[in-house]
Amino acid sequence: MSSLSEQSALATTLRTDTCGLLRSDDVGRTVRLGGWVHRSRDLGGVVFIDLRDRTGLVQLAFGLAWSDAETLRLAAAVGVESVVLCEGDIVARDADRQNPDMQTGAIEVRVRALRIVGPAVTPALPVARGRGEKVAAEELRLRHRYLDLRRPELQENLVLRHRLLQVSRRYLSERGYLELETPILTKPTPEGARDYLVPSRVHPGEFYALPQSPQIYKQLFMCCGFDRYFQIARCFRDEDLRADRQPEFTQIDIEASFVEREDILALAEGLIGALWLEAGHTIPAHFDRMSYHDAMEYYGCDRPDLRYGLRLADYTAVFAPLAFAVTASAIAAGSRVRGLVVPGGAAWSRKQVDELEALAKGAGAGGLLRLRYADGAYDGPLAKFLTDEARAALALTDGDLALFVAAPDRVASPALDRVRQECARRCALIDETMQRFVVVMDFPMFEEDPATGALAAVHHPFTAPHPEDLVSFPDHPARWRALAYDVVLNGTELGGGSIRISDPAMQSRMFALLGIGSTDEQERRFGFLLEGLRAGAPPHGGIAFGFDRIAMLLAGAPSLRDVIAFPKTTAARSLFEGAPVAVSPDDLAELHLTVTETSA
Ligand code: AMO
Repeated sequence: MSSLSEQSALATTLRTDTCGLLRSDDVGRTVRLGGWVHRSRDLGGVVFIDLRDRTGLVQLAFGLAWSDAETLRLAAAVGVESVVLCEGDIVARDADRQNPDMQTGAIEVRVRALRIVGPAVTPALPVARGRGEKVAAEELRLRHRYLDLRRPELQENLVLRHRLLQVSRRYLSERGYLELETPILTKPTPEGARDYLVPSRVHPGEFYALPQSPQIYKQLFMCCGFDRYFQIARCFRDEDLRADRQPEFTQIDIEASFVEREDILALAEGLIGALWLEAGHTIPAHFDRMSYHDAMEYYGCDRPDLRYGLRLADYTAVFAPLAFAVTASAIAAGSRVRGLVVPGGAAWSRKQVDELEALAKGAGAGGLLRLRYADGAYDGPLAKFLTDEARAALALTDGDLALFVAAPDRVASPALDRVRQECARRCALIDETMQRFVVVMDFPMFEEDPATGALAAVHHPFTAPHPEDLVSFPDHPARWRALAYDVVLNGTELGGGSIRISDPAMQSRMFALLGIGSTDEQERRFGFLLEGLRAGAPPHGGIAFGFDRIAMLLAGAPSLRDVIAFPKTTAARSLFEGAPVAVSPDDLAELHLTVTETSA
């Protein structure tokens, strides 16, 4: 909305204008305003109130020269956060009383009439704050969310969220995508988390699942010929929570027919470009592509932060000839020695390097091998074993600290990923203004349980295997890559998707590989998808973006909770309305449920 149209759009019978959009051009007008008392100052005979609505603040001035005695009395008495209606004249402030920090700082409203329409009790936490002032503890803010949401920062975040939703809808709709809704009371869809279950009253002992994503429904839309679908979809996952995860979150969910990977990725690049533009950033039209293999090899994770280097390298060939027991035994057992070189790291204290080792151990590694090179000398447990060839191959420069892990890749990669991230933070290598998008693709199709050999889908069981691998190793599914892709920004996964299996026989084989072997079980769990595929399915694929994550990044907010109106805590509770709650024995009986254990 432009400010002009917003001003007229928000005018009603009770108010002619909104607070934050008044300007010097309005001087001389008589206005009626409504809003919240943000702050007030009683200077004895003159009272100033900063009045707030969603558009911002304006100063109201009360004085006996233009307000009557009762109005002045009310202005002095009204409590902060009360809602008032007023009528007055806009006047220019004297030059020495102008406030350049306020959009409306050149004017004020001389109020002639004031009504307190919504008196407020003393607020449980402060809403009016100066810039940079500390906010109340998060638990208190979430408990009193009705006040917290009055804070201008949170209002701006939610307004941005609204704008991003509108951009998504417009962008997709203009490209032929239909906004179609899917059920919330549904059947479990495997996305890797636990389901939230809803008991059925009319079918004793039976449960609906809340959708972890609309995955199967959107594929069925393709079988039905809708061709292009999108939904701003609410998803529910009962998983361990972190700052970038909520049990209930929103996806921009997309599916299209007659497409290959690059069609979906081009759409994804365009949509992300439009969203970033809405928040004032121009980003490259095309994102780099990186294979899962390279992401793991050079960054140790499948969502690499490319804002800095510190790439990992394979040092096995350097270590193999050395008589250093730790690495020699690991190499003999089939492991590689991988590591990274941190310029300037040689200056870190022993304790600082120990902290890095603790990170590596926390990620499962047995240890972190260190080699310091400073003032022409090597230092560390391995220094005396280095040969001239090894020194030449390592090619360290003065001040370098080299860090190595000798372990199987599944251990070394996450350990080195954490070490790399911490080194970048310490060396201040992260440019917060940089936006490094990358599409990670060619994920493995399956994750193999090292103990049992059982396969689990890395993306989900509806993802198509790479056609090249079906030809090269038809009987070695553990070696198949998937036609899956993730869009990653600065180490955060924004979205993920894949080309789907559209052949019902292949879908059945996939279920069997995942341990759902019997036809009965396949039909019971996924019959509705298999029937849809058997009825004639086009080649199709799609993607889903984590909308809250996008809003969080574009708002520059540290947590998803700052862009969700009523979020859950990391313990999956809503502190404001107080959910979840125990229910009465009668309600439980009606749902045919018995509770055997209650939380303390
Ligand atoms: P996936 O499980 O990768 O794919 O989810 C897509 C995106 O959703 C976001 N996301 C979350 N955001 C907040 N809280 C959570 N708990 C949470 N979990 C996921 C992430 C993620 O990239 N059906 C497939 C998509 C497809 O194949 O088309 C799916 O849901 O940003």
